[in-house]
Amino acid sequence: MKFYITTPIYYINDRPHIGHAYATIAADVLARYHRQRGDEVFFLAGTAEHGDKIATSAEKAGVPVEEFCDRNAQYFIDAWQALLITNDDFIRTTQARHEAAVKLFATKLKDSGQLYEKDYEGLYCVGCESFKRPSELADGKCPDHGTEPQPVKERNWFFKLSEYGERLEQAITSGELVIEPESRRNEMLSFIRQGLDDITVSRHNSPWAITLPWDSEQTLYVWLDELFNYCTAVGYGVDDERFKKWWPVDLHLVGKDIARFHTIIWPALLMAIGESIPKKVFATGLYTVDGQKMSKTLGNVINPLDLVNRYGADATRYLLLSQFPFGNDGDIKAASFDASYATELANGIGNLASRVIAMSRKNFDGAIAGPKGNTLEPIIIAAWKEYHAALESCGLEAALGIIKKVITACDQLIEQKQPWSLVKTDQAAAGAVLYELCEALRHLSLMLEPYLPTTMAQLRTTLGATNLDSTDWGQLEPGTPLAELAPLFPRINE
Ligand code: MSP
Repeated sequence: MKFYITTPIYYINDRPHIGHAYATIAADVLARYHRQRGDEVFFLAGTAEHGDKIATSAEKAGVPVEEFCDRNAQYFIDAWQALLITNDDFIRTTQARHEAAVKLFATKLKDSGQLYEKDYEGLYCVGCESFKRPSELADGKCPDHGTEPQPVKERNWFFKLSEYGERLEQAITSGELVIEPESRRNEMLSFIRQGLDDITVSRHNSPWAITLPWDSEQTLYVWLDELFNYCTAVGYGVDDERFKKWWPVDLHLVGKDIARFHTIIWPALLMAIGESIPKKVFATGLYTVDGQKMSKTLGNVINPLDLVNRYGADATRYLLLSQFPFGNDGDIKAASFDASYATELANGIGNLASRVIAMSRKNFDGAIAGPKGNTLEPIIIAAWKEYHAALESCGLEAALGIIKKVITACDQLIEQKQPWSLVKTDQAAAGAVLYELCEALRHLSLMLEPYLPTTMAQLRTTLGATNLDSTDWGQLEPGTPLAELAPLFPRINE
């Protein structure tokens, strides 16, 4: 099966922070999971580089805007590399391939008869790059950016979004477009049921945007430019076969603040140009740090690279995803990372692996012990079932909970059977226990690999199981050499 998964394309007015890293790591875990299951995956990440916000930031930085974009896009590319993100492509909206595809899209939209011109007066928030209804403001300010939107009066092109309510509602209620979590789906449905307004699709000559092919005084509204990246990357207008292979997107991972763009505006635009709509949109919650929104002024912005330096890439991925249920809002207590690293990683899977491997090596000639014990088999079989169900519905933190239960079951078996003393009286019984602990480690390494790609590959190599990726029980063979294992999660160097 094909699986096309995307992250939002981030504004590059600044360096990436953990709010950006969060959805990107999540998408990577899901992409790796689907590859492991044998799906053919296309995983897209990228940057949104047009718009007033970027132009102003470049100006403030005193750098020509093209140069500013190149420099800042590189920050994102480097950060994703450091976090071991396996995106198959990295799209930038200033690339020629994208500008060409977007112009085709805009023309198609115009030809569909769904656009019209009108003089418009409204309040524009540059932070959101969108117009705001007065009812959406708090004390006259954008609740997300804390700034007053600017009054704008100009002639614009409009898209007849108001005509799409029924079709959108139908798509969502029939399951053609799945929106998760449930709370987000309900919110989108009630927004649609209140009646949709038409939306502007152009701005009057923004200095840093794509000019409309049929109106040289108007530039394409950045959100249309950005949303279309998902089509560009799989060959829209250039390679029909490739486009047909990958389209539609199987899963858009987005933040809840941009869910409306992805579940209402985007599908309606696709309907207008006669393309199929995304199968699923999953909206993540928003992060706060120590109870506060991350902001430069507060000085609490966490750079993911600082976490990678302290904890390594694997642990950083784990620490971010294990904080709270995926899809909920959550608070990051950066101070708790050290404790979670120690209890969940070093003393969790790390300690279990070192103990089991050291005991086996010591008592069974540096090899996998035998005969094949199987008391853990039913626990592993049940865990796989729950694990698949969790990841099929983007339960990234839930899947970690299932893995933790398996680790606990292994620890309990060790405490119960005490293989280090059992071996003195009953070699075969001790061998059976150590065998099944090694086999359980192999399963754990497979379940954890999407989250912890480097350390789990290391564990599998140690077990001599590099190519043993079957989820069936009993794949390890007694007598196979068992290498020494360096600590998977070493003590943190201060
Ligand atoms: N360029 C648009 C997306 C276009 S997708 C076709 C955009 N960019 S953004 O950089 O402002 O935000 C992108 C995503 O990052 C959003 O989903 C947003 O939720 C996420 N985050 C940005 N700051 C965040 C936090 N503080 N916490 C969690 N996620 C946050 O919108």
